[in-house]
Amino acid sequence: MSKNESSTLIGGLLTLKRRSAIGIAAAVVCLIVPVAASAEVKVTDFGNTKDGTPVKAYTITGADGVVVKLISRGAALAEWHVPDKNGRIADVVFGFDDLEGYESPANGYFGTTTGRVANRIAGGKFMIDGKEYTLAKNDGPNTLHGGVKRSLDKVVWEGKPFENDQGQGVVFTYTSPDGEEGFPGNLAIKVTYTLSDENELRIDYEATTDKATPVNLTNHAYFNLSGAGAPTILDHELMLAADHYTPIDETLIPTGEIAPVAGTPFDFREFHTIGERVDELNDKPGKGYDHNFVLNNQDGDLALAAKVREPKSGRVLSVFTTEPAVQFYGGNFLDGAVGKDGKKYNYRSGFCLETQHYPNSINEPKFPSIVLRPGETYTHTCVYQITAQ
Ligand code: BGC
Repeated sequence: MSKNESSTLIGGLLTLKRRSAIGIAAAVVCLIVPVAASAEVKVTDFGNTKDGTPVKAYTITGADGVVVKLISRGAALAEWHVPDKNGRIADVVFGFDDLEGYESPANGYFGTTTGRVANRIAGGKFMIDGKEYTLAKNDGPNTLHGGVKRSLDKVVWEGKPFENDQGQGVVFTYTSPDGEEGFPGNLAIKVTYTLSDENELRIDYEATTDKATPVNLTNHAYFNLSGAGAPTILDHELMLAADHYTPIDETLIPTGEIAPVAGTPFDFREFHTIGERVDELNDKPGKGYDHNFVLNNQDGDLALAAKVREPKSGRVLSVFTTEPAVQFYGGNFLDGAVGKDGKKYNYRSGFCLETQHYPNSINEPKFPSIVLRPGETYTHTCVYQITAQ
């Protein structure tokens, strides 16, 4: 995890500045010259929102050709360029070239920080301490991803670049005022992205409130490890560290049951291609994979939640989290939105692994609570790491 410095080969002399033992061994044996993860986080203008708020873009240069771009609207991951097993670079996450795209209906929460309550709240209402709260419904009878106008994916956050021992990154902050999108309490939120030289993109979430309120934050990046815009993810191989999942009703609200994955198309305890059994779910709620998986690790420590391999490029995504669950969404509602470089994001051409608490937890006493109270701090870490082999 430690931040490495650059290696340079000058006149046949290998000058090692990296402190990583692996980096040194690789450089000595192969005389490979890793490209420095040196440049500072670059801050540029990304235009103004329709209501005139300026949006910034932050470009982080990692090691070996890796580049991450974040934007302050939605504190979103907009680009992640990573090498394949032959060193060829591709941008593997969905996004748009400009703000207009992000503000358009084509934006299915691409790369955004999602909340205040990511995922679904049944009937668009909930009770806390005997008081009922009503939200806007934006997904049939339910509320999805925090509401309609000022959910966290749509607001402009304050961004501050930094560099430390772990890598380079940006801290985004936003205080959602009491009553915004119907939620109680002023919620002060901090989302920190850090890119390491090992191409780990770590996302640390923190939030505090002055009134009891539900909180469930996540990142909604869509990945295609062949490169965003490639036609399918059905050839990607998935492993989920989950013996159980939460079955859903017709409106994608969990029934409350925590069911074993054994003997179902939800069994990803060993690697299976996403496409292998997905058609068995075409006529079921979610129209494919769009389910909450209960992770085996429930103790709040950072643990492996999922791995995805794309055999041709050799790229492997590993997902680690402190959260008790992950929503695996297989892009069943993608319908050809035009994204970066004019590429089309077609049906099942991207997947999301959204680390979080279970959907509708606020109305389901059997699920771990998502209520944050004054004096407490919400924390959540998610690490996405992409390697190639
Ligand atoms: C949900 C999907 C939804 C997608 C985009 C996912 O988190 O589970 O049902 O279509 O987000 O909103």
